[in-house]
Amino acid sequence: MASDLRREQLLLRAGFLKEQGLDYVLDRPELHPPGKAAGAGKHPSKPGGDVPEPSAEMAAGRALLAQWETAKECRRCRLCEGRKQVVFGAGDPEARLMFIGEGPGADEDAQGVPFVGRAGQLLTDIITKGMGLERKSVYIANIVKCRPPDNRVPLPDEAAACLPYLKAQIAAIGPEVIVTLGKTAVLYLLGIETPITKVRGKWLSYEAIPVMPTFHPSYLLRNPAAKRDVWEDVQKVMAKLGIQRP
Ligand code: URA
Repeated sequence: MASDLRREQLLLRAGFLKEQGLDYVLDRPELHPPGKAAGAGKHPSKPGGDVPEPSAEMAAGRALLAQWETAKECRRCRLCEGRKQVVFGAGDPEARLMFIGEGPGADEDAQGVPFVGRAGQLLTDIITKGMGLERKSVYIANIVKCRPPDNRVPLPDEAAACLPYLKAQIAAIGPEVIVTLGKTAVLYLLGIETPITKVRGKWLSYEAIPVMPTFHPSYLLRNPAAKRDVWEDVQKVMAKLGIQRP
């Protein structure tokens, strides 16, 4: 429906993309309002109509948008009481690579975007300086979308309440590889309770998607020597995705 598409495009332009750190998508012709598409032709309009042919990326973007519209009002667990905002996720709706952390901290709660504090800067460095990728080309999410008080580890019932959002995100994005950051993501996404030192660097799987567990960037801030291990893990991910070292 043209009107639905226009509404989605307006929503995408107005709030969602900015809040989720996805505003770069505005540069993409297929998400511009009909008639204004710069470089139209990648997804040409139907003859006689002004609605661009939906791409797979648009479908993923729309699915994420719909999920976010539900999630931003979420009251499924007690974490909603202390949050400033839901930190849904950020990145490319069609990312080949997805990172999953634990839960938002104070900076993320304030900005509505995952991994923007000190640990986030380190994760960004791993993605950009280490892997040679743009941060916006991957997708970053957390086990829980609302900040736990005092940055404590999410409780099992909180993780269980939030997991459907993460599962839906993974299903919409369809990443080729997932990197889990720290013990909590392995525990709640994969149901594996083990010290992160025992599993990091070993391929696991979620719904047939290869999962590489590694240390959480917050741990690296406290133990910089472990960056060497993370670099090893990241190189395995790069090899799996065919990414050449920059
Ligand atoms: N730590 C996390 O696990 N997630 C964030 O978004 C920020 C810090």
